[in-house]
Amino acid sequence: MKNIKIAIVYFSGTHVTKSYAEVIQAHLTENGFEAQLFDITPFSARRTALPAEQYHGLIFGSPVFADFLPCVMDDWLPTLRGAGKPCAVFVTYGGRTSGYAHFHALSLLNRAGFLVQFSADFLGRHTFNLAGWDMLSDRPNEQDFAVAREFAALVKKRFTHPHAHGLTLQKPFGYDRALAEMLNRPPSSERKWTNPRRFFTCSLCGACESECPVQAIDHQTGMSDPAKCIECLHCMHICPDKALKADEHMEAYYPAFLKEWNLTEDLMSRKQGKIITDALHASF
Ligand SMILES: Cc1cc2nc3c(=O)[nH]c(=O)nc-3n(C[C@H](O)[C@H](O)[C@H](O)COP(=O)(O)O)c2cc1C
Ligand code: SF4
Ligand code: SF4
Repeated sequence: MKNIKIAIVYFSGTHVTKSYAEVIQAHLTENGFEAQLFDITPFSARRTALPAEQYHGLIFGSPVFADFLPCVMDDWLPTLRGAGKPCAVFVTYGGRTSGYAHFHALSLLNRAGFLVQFSADFLGRHTFNLAGWDMLSDRPNEQDFAVAREFAALVKKRFTHPHAHGLTLQKPFGYDRALAEMLNRPPSSERKWTNPRRFFTCSLCGACESECPVQAIDHQTGMSDPAKCIECLHCMHICPDKALKADEHMEAYYPAFLKEWNLTEDLMSRKQGKIITDALHASF
């Protein structure tokens, strides 16, 4: 089965999604598939055409940002050439909800021409833990990765099935309005929410600038542009000198956030990954 080649395409700000992609890749490789990772987080990575025609199928992984896929996916995913190839999706979320992300991913990948067969929800530490939050700090754990291996086993089974069929999800209530709001959201400065900037001297390696998904940060000045920044905190996560910081607004907002969403640590820690193979498994 060595000739079955799968592309695992992922966006990952703080490497939660990346860690799941690597587990899925390892499982597929151990089981006779060729699986290649494509990290589409940096802006430049989405400027090079993805050679989808060289692969039997595609796995797409992404974090959930405010109930949706990161907004950059709206422009990029539909440019792929799916040509009816099999596809599976996984989204990672920080303990609140995966919201509309499955429906969003399915809409965009179907538009690109893929046959999306199933989707999955995986848990991971919240991005804003880098800015003082404390949501699912110990995730993903071995139990989470076990669900990712089940997902990979299903890819192996379903992608080679001669009579594959696509997943259809019910449209969530309020989807169109929420999507329009997400795509037209005011910049972080107007929301009194602060994008990262440099607080300490650094070695000027340039990684924050070259890896930023939306070209929002200037590594010379250490300032990010609040009109462009999507708050993925990728720059903070990869900075070798830990020189970047988010504003203290983020940390101060954490208790109010938990209260607003009726969230407790106990509830979040009991959430588990799940694979959605049927519209009935999706809870919206
Ligand atoms: C801008 C932004 C919005 C987020 N929105 C949500 C959300 O709606 N629900 C949730 O549970 N987690 C949310 N998170 C947390 C991430 O989905 C979660 O930490 C994810 O696993 C990060 O993956 P990554 O490290 O691969 O980027 C958000 C994170 C960011 C940066
Ligand atoms: S990644 Fe960190 S060390 Fe490199 S230029 Fe940016 S702030 Fe400086
Ligand atoms: S500047 Fe904003 S968009 Fe760019 S990597 Fe940093 S947090 Fe992400």
